[in-house]
Amino acid sequence: MPYKLFVTRSIPDVGIKLLQANKNVSLEIYERDQQIPRRELLKRVHGKDIILSILTEKIDKEVMDAAGPQLKMIANYAVGFDNIDLKEAAKRGIVVTNTPHERVNESVAEHTIALLFALTHRIVETDAFTRAGKYHAWGPKLLLGTDLVGKTIGIIGTGRIGSSVVKRLYDGFGMKVLYTDVVRNMDLEKITKAKYRTLPKLLAESDFVSIHVPLLKSTQHLIAAKQFKMMKPTAFIINTARGPIIDEHALIEALRHKTIAGAGLDVYEFEPLIAMNPKDIKELRQMKNVVLTPHTASATIEARQAMSETAAKNILTFIRGKAPPNAVRT
Ligand code: GLV
Ligand code: GLV
Repeated sequence: MPYKLFVTRSIPDVGIKLLQANKNVSLEIYERDQQIPRRELLKRVHGKDIILSILTEKIDKEVMDAAGPQLKMIANYAVGFDNIDLKEAAKRGIVVTNTPHERVNESVAEHTIALLFALTHRIVETDAFTRAGKYHAWGPKLLLGTDLVGKTIGIIGTGRIGSSVVKRLYDGFGMKVLYTDVVRNMDLEKITKAKYRTLPKLLAESDFVSIHVPLLKSTQHLIAAKQFKMMKPTAFIINTARGPIIDEHALIEALRHKTIAGAGLDVYEFEPLIAMNPKDIKELRQMKNVVLTPHTASATIEARQAMSETAAKNILTFIRGKAPPNAVRT
């Protein structure tokens, strides 16, 4: 009997082709290119052995119950896995995988740096200025930004993505590197002269702070009102990891009161809302020192194909009875 696989959303074709080519897989894909309604998800997972999920689907006890006791694997099409109840999966012996492909790390690292440049060279703001027909004459003090060279980047989390950001900023732009993590990263220290700091010290000394930790209980609201007050008033914060790592209300307060200089955000605490209350949304939309992208840090053709291939390879390895390369440990 082939493994029954349900794919909750159409994904790039590389992985789908690999799965289709395997006789041991019976593939069913949600037809529409939009988020599957919860009720439909609960119906469609019934009797499946494997679910290939994307990060907008909450895969919890209810979904696992709806699938049934034969559910063996959840292959998440994402680097993050906070949409999956790992404890519940472990209890049932369900294997969970993610897609931390090198291409994805690079894509997110590039996007992080794109946000840095968009802020420091005021790209979004000056583009709007130019389009609005406001460029009448060159001026020595017109729309001044700030350089990266010689400044200090503070990285929170030096896993694959955080390290990739640091290497580029050190090699390419001559930045000084501070980092904080649960363990010292000797490789990174060697390659980039990165210096370890506690989080409060990192926040106090950095010109730019970029977040690259997964969302866990211990990282939720890691950056809140108290932490913003530790930052320099000239500092910028970048978040391409997960929204709830920053207390969004505290962030908007910090931007409103110029506690910090600006923010580059790809993820939001209450996604797809960019903030919880309408007043904050309106204000955030109008802030010129903020650059907002719609969770597109890994949205390149290369990265998304690599994620598709990785998710498929995890599944194909699993059905051959081997441990999939990207099993998530609880
Ligand atoms: C995207 O946010 C991912 O986790 O891959
Ligand atoms: C996750 O954010 C990682 O660093 O791999």
